[in-house]
Amino acid sequence: MSEPHSATARAHPNIAFIKYWGNANDNLRLPANASLSMNLEGLYTQTTVSWFDRPDADSLILNGQPDTGAAFRRVFNFLNLLRERLNITGSARVESFNNFPMGAGIASSASSFAALTLAAVSAAGLQLSERALSALARLGSGSASRSIPAGFVEWFTGQTHEESFAESFAPPGHWDIVDVIAVVSSEHKSVISQEGHHSANTSDLQAARVAGAPERLAICKSAILSRDFEQFAEVVERDSNLMHAVMMTSRPPLFYWLPPTLMVMEQVRRWRADGLKVCYTLDAGPNIHCICAKDDADQVRQALSALSGISEVRVAGAGGAAVLVDVND
Ligand code: PMV
Repeated sequence: MSEPHSATARAHPNIAFIKYWGNANDNLRLPANASLSMNLEGLYTQTTVSWFDRPDADSLILNGQPDTGAAFRRVFNFLNLLRERLNITGSARVESFNNFPMGAGIASSASSFAALTLAAVSAAGLQLSERALSALARLGSGSASRSIPAGFVEWFTGQTHEESFAESFAPPGHWDIVDVIAVVSSEHKSVISQEGHHSANTSDLQAARVAGAPERLAICKSAILSRDFEQFAEVVERDSNLMHAVMMTSRPPLFYWLPPTLMVMEQVRRWRADGLKVCYTLDAGPNIHCICAKDDADQVRQALSALSGISEVRVAGAGGAAVLVDVND
């Protein structure tokens, strides 16, 4: 048997300021609306893919443990799509780890599928544009498309597979804002976002949320570009509230908040009224991402640590693009 072809990639998770919730096309995972995000520095998934000239020998090692369950199926459903689209033959050995604990309030699917895409494509000896990589990563997890480019990123809806990709609109150093993550619960969430995307249209509010998304995105992007925290805070909180209103009014309803979640949201608004540059946004879970000016991060971190119901606080600034790494370094 010939030597396997291997490559290792790293990608950061990202936090969305304008959220993706619901698909216009479930098969291609074309989103109902465009979204905006920031990559999270210091946190990453690192993935090695090796392709072998042998059938039926796919394997996955996740955080040091062999996996043949749900994660295996999700990874290889995705790699089957890549094999088909890119004419890759043979089996894959995938080894992946996160440098942040699963369930620590940071979605790992974005960094996982971004790193997996870059490693799998490179191990197959292919060189694709950032745009093509981002579109492919989207097929694994929508938000993974946004973990391919650097810094502040926009993911376009698109009408076709090729058109639905994410692109950087400002580098990581553009604006000194950080995500101070208040971890409320480290339990695994009961409804994964994939199912939530499917039920989004059962909410009467989804059509209105989607209709207003382009305007919110334009406001948010312009606030980021002009570093206008006040405008940014208002639209980021509104967009997160709208997504959670859709979740709560879907059938069946999805309630991700826990009592401390609401308490922290309340506090954040109070701290802002008192002069701190801070606002909140929440993904499909109870943890609160407090986005704040870097200068205020210490104060926000300390204030969060003093609240009851918060098990952990993590801080991450704006991160770079998904990259290949030389594991022999
Ligand atoms: O990429 P997914 O399928 O995990 O969906 C992400 C959904 C949210 O995190 C709630 C919003 C977003 O835009 O990241």
